[in-house]
Amino acid sequence: MHTGTDPDPAETTVEHVALLYALEAEAMPLVERLGLVEQPAVDPCMPQRHFSGRVGTLAIDLLINGRDPRCGTDRVGTDAATLAAFMAIRKLAPDLIINAGTAGGFEARGGSIGAIYVSVGNLLYHDRHIPIPGFELQARGAWPATPAPHLMHAIGAKPGIVTTGNSLNCTAEERAFFEHERVAAKDMEACAIAQVCAQCGVPFVAVKSITDLVDHPEAVQDAFLRNLRMASALLAERMEVAVRWLGAHPRRIAEL
Ligand code: ADE
Repeated sequence: MHTGTDPDPAETTVEHVALLYALEAEAMPLVERLGLVEQPAVDPCMPQRHFSGRVGTLAIDLLINGRDPRCGTDRVGTDAATLAAFMAIRKLAPDLIINAGTAGGFEARGGSIGAIYVSVGNLLYHDRHIPIPGFELQARGAWPATPAPHLMHAIGAKPGIVTTGNSLNCTAEERAFFEHERVAAKDMEACAIAQVCAQCGVPFVAVKSITDLVDHPEAVQDAFLRNLRMASALLAERMEVAVRWLGAHPRRIAEL
């Protein structure tokens, strides 16, 4: 259990996980696989959807960002992600947060549609530029992912650098960044959630399923829309394995 005052989070056992998703299409296949039950909203001002359930020794809360009430589309990007992470930590007090979702991949690094990555190293922002001394690190993010090599192995995923920005497509400057940092998965939430987790002392892992290839001639939005359902189904398959692995017995964060 995570109390917020644990001296060493690596020694925390994972008995309660919060799974954070941006899109309903990404999350609902897992909700159905696990038979999670919808709960009242975590906060009445916010459109997040909240589901919960239990697998073995593991209590599960799953949050979906919910819809923008003005246009009815799912809320994506770092502001919704930051808020969801903070609300999950404050109101649900999980031992571990997993941000699961889709991402753009890179053929140059062996990426393919439906490939699943687990975050390694630091999560970065790829679209923040503040060229003033002292601000570069804030712009870069560089918030840590909790190492999870055993979880990664259990679900048959690959290790990958995950970076975050607030656009689906990207600029030439961002493409150069992806090459320089050897990015495997580009999303719109993970680094923001990692930032909140690091500041609150909650371990964090991202699991990303590739819907589109950033370094392919096809427009990412076309591939994303075509592959979203398939990549989300594959993500749910692996996330069910992850949850059952975590629920087989309480594991220390250091054993992930
Ligand atoms: N999610 C799925 N594909 C993406 C992309 N190309 N960029 C950011 N987030 C994504």
